[in-house]
Amino acid sequence: MIEIKNIHKQFGIHHVLKGINLTVRKGEVVTIIGPSGSGKTTFLRCLNLLERPDEGVISLQDKVINCSYPSKKDIYWLRKQTAMVFQQYHLFAHKTVIENVMEGLTIARKMRKQDAYAVAENELIKVGLQDKLNVYPSQLSGGQKQRVGIARALAIHPDVLLFDEPTAALDPELVGEVLEVMLEIVKTGATMIVVTHEMEFAKRVSDQVVFMDEGVIVEQGTPEEVFRYTKKERTRQFLRRVSPEYLYEPKEFIKEPVI
Ligand SMILES: Nc1ncnc2c1ncn2[C@@H]1O[C@H](COP(=O)(O)OP(=O)(O)OP(=O)(O)O)[C@@H](O)[C@H]1O
Ligand SMILES: [Mg+2]
Repeated sequence: MIEIKNIHKQFGIHHVLKGINLTVRKGEVVTIIGPSGSGKTTFLRCLNLLERPDEGVISLQDKVINCSYPSKKDIYWLRKQTAMVFQQYHLFAHKTVIENVMEGLTIARKMRKQDAYAVAENELIKVGLQDKLNVYPSQLSGGQKQRVGIARALAIHPDVLLFDEPTAALDPELVGEVLEVMLEIVKTGATMIVVTHEMEFAKRVSDQVVFMDEGVIVEQGTPEEVFRYTKKERTRQFLRRVSPEYLYEPKEFIKEPVI
C-alpha cells in the first residue's frame, strides 16, 4: 500500500498542488483524469521525488518519508520502489532497445550485465518486442518506443508503476497496442497509478478514478461512481468535454423532448 498525505507543490507563486491525499492498496489501479494544467504530472513526479514537494508525507512498505526533507537514502529508495512511464518515452537515443532497459538494472540496481540482459530480454518479450532488442529508438514506431518505456519500468520490479499519459503522444492507430500491454500488466496484479485521457480504459481497469482540477482532488470513487453517478458539476463538465459517449445526466439536466 502507498499512502500519500497532504502533498503541496508551488512553482514560485503558482500553487500547483494544494494538499493531495491518496491511498492506493496493493494491486489497485488508480487512474487520474483532469484538465491540462491541473497538476497531474507534477503529482506523479512528486511521488518518486523527481519533483520535491513543499509539504507532504509518503508511506510505502514500512517507511514514512517526509517529502519536504527527504534524505538522499530515502530518495534513492523511493525511486527503486516506483517506476515512471513518461508521455515522451525518455529513451536514450544512442542506446539500443535492450541497453535502454538494462540501464536501470546495471546502474541503479548494480546488477551484473549478463543478469541484466536476461531480465531486460524477458520484459521486452512481455511487451512483444523480442525482435527489436538490438535496434535504436529512432528505428521504432511511437507505440514500440512506449513499449520499451514500459519494459524499462517493469524491469526494476517496482512496488508501484506510475504512468503519465502513456498514449498521449501516439498516433491514434498506435494507442491500442500500448493499452493492450497495460491491460496485461493490470492482469498481473501490479499496483498502478495512471494519468490518462483514455476514458474507456479508465472505466475498464480502475479500482479508483480520481478527478483532479486546479491542484485538488475534486472527486474520487469507483468508475461507476465517477462516470455514472457523478456528484460534482466540475467533473461532469470535464467528462462531457473529453468523453463524447458520456451520456449520463441527472434528471434535472435532461430537457423535455421537443415535439
Ligand atoms: N517546473 C515547473 N516550473 C514552473 N511551473 C511548472 C513546472 N512544472 C509544471 N508547472 C506548472 O504547473 C501546472 C501543472 O502542470 P502539470 O504538468 O502538472 O499539469 P498536467 O495536469 O499534467 O497537465 P497536462 O494534462 O497538460 O499534462 C501548470 O500550470 C504548469 O505550467
Ligand atoms: Mg501532464
